[in-house]
Amino acid sequence: MRFPQSFIEEVKYRNKIEDVIASYVNLRRAGSNYQGLCPFHSEKTPSFTVFPNTETFHCFGCGAGGDVISFTMRAENLEYPDAIEFLAKRAGLAMPEDEGGEKTISRSRYYEMNREAARFFNRCLSLPEAKEARDYLAKRGLSNAAVKRFGLGFAPNSFDALRNHMHKLGYHDEELKTAFLCGKSERTGNYFDYFRGRIIFPIIDHFSNVVGFGGRALGDAKPKYLNSSDTPVFKKSKQLFALNFARNACADSLILCEGYMDVIAVNMAGFPNAVATLGTALTTDQARIMAKYTKKVILSYDSDEAGVAAAKRAIPILTDVGLEVKMLRIEGAKDPDEFIKKYGATRFKTLLDDSQSKLDYLCDSVLHKYNILIPEEKLKAAAELCEMLSGIYSDVEREIYIIRVSEKLSINPQNMKNDVERVMRKKRKEESAEFKRKIVSDTLGYGDRVNRDFVKNARAARAEEAILGILLLRPELMRDIKQGRVALSSSDFLTDFGKRVFDAFMEFEGHFDIGLLAETFTPDEISRIVKMQIDRSKLTKNDLSVLEDHIRTLKSESADKTSSDTLEDIQNLINRKKK
Ligand code: GTP
Ligand code: MN
Repeated sequence: MRFPQSFIEEVKYRNKIEDVIASYVNLRRAGSNYQGLCPFHSEKTPSFTVFPNTETFHCFGCGAGGDVISFTMRAENLEYPDAIEFLAKRAGLAMPEDEGGEKTISRSRYYEMNREAARFFNRCLSLPEAKEARDYLAKRGLSNAAVKRFGLGFAPNSFDALRNHMHKLGYHDEELKTAFLCGKSERTGNYFDYFRGRIIFPIIDHFSNVVGFGGRALGDAKPKYLNSSDTPVFKKSKQLFALNFARNACADSLILCEGYMDVIAVNMAGFPNAVATLGTALTTDQARIMAKYTKKVILSYDSDEAGVAAAKRAIPILTDVGLEVKMLRIEGAKDPDEFIKKYGATRFKTLLDDSQSKLDYLCDSVLHKYNILIPEEKLKAAAELCEMLSGIYSDVEREIYIIRVSEKLSINPQNMKNDVERVMRKKRKEESAEFKRKIVSDTLGYGDRVNRDFVKNARAARAEEAILGILLLRPELMRDIKQGRVALSSSDFLTDFGKRVFDAFMEFEGHFDIGLLAETFTPDEISRIVKMQIDRSKLTKNDLSVLEDHIRTLKSESADKTSSDTLEDIQNLINRKKK
């Protein structure tokens, strides 16, 4: 839904950016601004700044920036409308009525629909026809207590059991389809229940809303698991199964498992701090969510090859958001679920306590890969380990691992140390070359992900940024442009990004607010837009004359562009003729 501009203003007025951010970041005053450690990248000296005057924030380290709405989107991992709702709730504001009519379904209706469906599935588990499902759960060792705690259910093997029930409650087919509770046959146009003959695992977000479902087939039917697809209230890549329980129990650590069944088994064994992704590989968004609640993640993936590969992919994703990673070594079982069934909760606890540091784990996995009794293989193992150990930042930690590894390979630690240091020197050289290359390309605008056209005409792009920054600083100038007192139009802009931002500004009469952009611009784009303003916040000269200077530059560049384009075209034409 599109929120009325006045509502956005009210939400922002009642949620002062410095107050909202203060509940995430330790802020201290710096002149008229505030500073703290950036919550979006790891840093040791504060470069994250809040500007109460312009109601924006900007991190001079990682470039993240925006207003209180985009901050909330990033910090809480929410989409635009959810961030608005989150802030409205925080300030005790009622959400505006949706004027859109039938097309748009409000978020609360999704939540109610899902909750009703979850209730229905749960009740169905007691029906006579669910005997096979109950037997299956019993066979898998799932107690009634587990069923109750996780709200498990059963979707009857029928095409319309849920549909009929939901119709009685006043939900219609189209809504059920957008919530992925029903599908629609392309051939016949008939609607049908999406989950049939499956054990149902409701997926509950950290506000305790039911947002989606996973369904496991009884026995060996395919696919083994069926999950709701993404809906406006459900993004698989930003959700973790059982976070609703784990978030209150993970001050020390989170246990990250592969599957629903693992999470439930670990929970029932007395560890409520377990979560799982929803049948997909771990994403950075999910890692960030975890980092919000805890400092340490114990990776407890399956012990098979696929599980080990997935764990190796997960390690850098977790490390990059600042999480300490430990590895669970499951031996004698394929996954935590099976381990607990076989050996019990106490031994699982020992496993958790003995979990390895990620470095031990990675070293071991190299050592396991090669037969170190064969010289060539030993050489390969040593080379791989040197490469790995060269990445350790702390001298002491590196030394410890060098000694440990060289013992296992039975080679002289000093030799190993020399090799590691050689790799480090080589890397440092490459890094500094890379760094130099990056500076050059940044100045030229290569590698600009937000404004891809920057490099084509840096002078014009810089003029555009200056113009847009000044307009943000003095939104009343937007009116002057609109009413023709300042001659500037969308067609003067040369970069697509600049044009888009300008068009967005012009859409709002005078009352422009950056909070209105978060619906159509990505967080990185918002950060860039805020930076345009921040770069000009020290402007003291007459803004209008500065603005006009930049407009002149831009216009002369676009004039040049057109003529040089023609030249280029002619040149191309000649070349083509030659061939
Ligand atoms: P059980 O076999 O019932 O013990 O489940 P499990 O959780 O151990 O399954 P497995 O290790 O095979 O897979 C781990 C996770 O991957 C599951 O919990 C699902 O989330 C997901 N998954 C497994 N099979 C499928 C599938 O066929 N489709 C989808 N979408 N996801 C699957
Ligand atoms: Mn498994």
